[in-house]
Amino acid sequence: MSENYEEWLDFAKNLAIKAGEMIVEARESATFVRDYKMDHELVTSTDIAVDQYICSHILRQYPSHCILSEESSPNLDLGDIGEDVPVWVIDPIDGTVNFAHGHHHVAVSIGLYIGDQRILGVVNAPFFKECFWAVKGSGAFCNGKRLTVSGAQELRNALVATGFPYQKTALAPIVERVSHVLHHCQDIRRNGSAALDLCWVAAGRLDAYFESVKPWDMAAGALIAEEAGAKVGYYLSNTSVWPDVVNGEGLLVSTPQLYDDLRALIDVGL
Ligand code: IPD
Ligand code: CA
Ligand code: CA
Repeated sequence: MSENYEEWLDFAKNLAIKAGEMIVEARESATFVRDYKMDHELVTSTDIAVDQYICSHILRQYPSHCILSEESSPNLDLGDIGEDVPVWVIDPIDGTVNFAHGHHHVAVSIGLYIGDQRILGVVNAPFFKECFWAVKGSGAFCNGKRLTVSGAQELRNALVATGFPYQKTALAPIVERVSHVLHHCQDIRRNGSAALDLCWVAAGRLDAYFESVKPWDMAAGALIAEEAGAKVGYYLSNTSVWPDVVNGEGLLVSTPQLYDDLRALIDVGL
């Protein structure tokens, strides 16, 4: 592993662990307030505080790097960034609805890419005391233990995770996809954290995951899944403003053997 990658990985792991402690502390002391962005999307004061904590440390340590962060810089124009500039992609709390309701599927997600390459990903799930990470070409790990995807080969034995958007206007094709999965697979899960869904595919706890998500939901988890042997692809073409390396629109991640069948199953022509 290159020296830079090793240094960045240690730095990201430390941030994700400290951020996780902030999240658990806020939950246990119930010292957070709820708000809504874009009218309907829940955001808490802890999302903002953790975002500030992570971004300020990155800025101080690596002033020449860029940051795409859900809460403080979601509209960063990635087209303007040089091919060799490291870009950190941050979701301070992935699973905000779970956090606010006291559920444990909550994660801090820190990804880093350069040009068209995902370089590293750290996803820390503080309530489960599990920290997942991967560096390009070096495998994926959870608390130091190497991860491998499940051996699932057939749809009828596959446990498939997905998620639903805050926006209720485009639910019809999503419901149709879910119906196909329910009819042909073992079962479905909606755990409420895309980053953790990806890590759970990496750990073989889920056989597949599909959803349309944002860059900060998937930048770290997609690399972790890939490094554990998952196939990372798409069931929709990229019509988003995001470059392919962090595009989460129509994301499909599964064991290599399930990928083609699942892609065909959830292709509802939209
Ligand atoms: C959400 C979670 C959820 C997914 C949503 C995301 P947030 O992220 O990842 O699982 O279904 O699409 O927006 O809002 O908790 O950071
Ligand atoms: Ca998220
Ligand atoms: Ca979030």
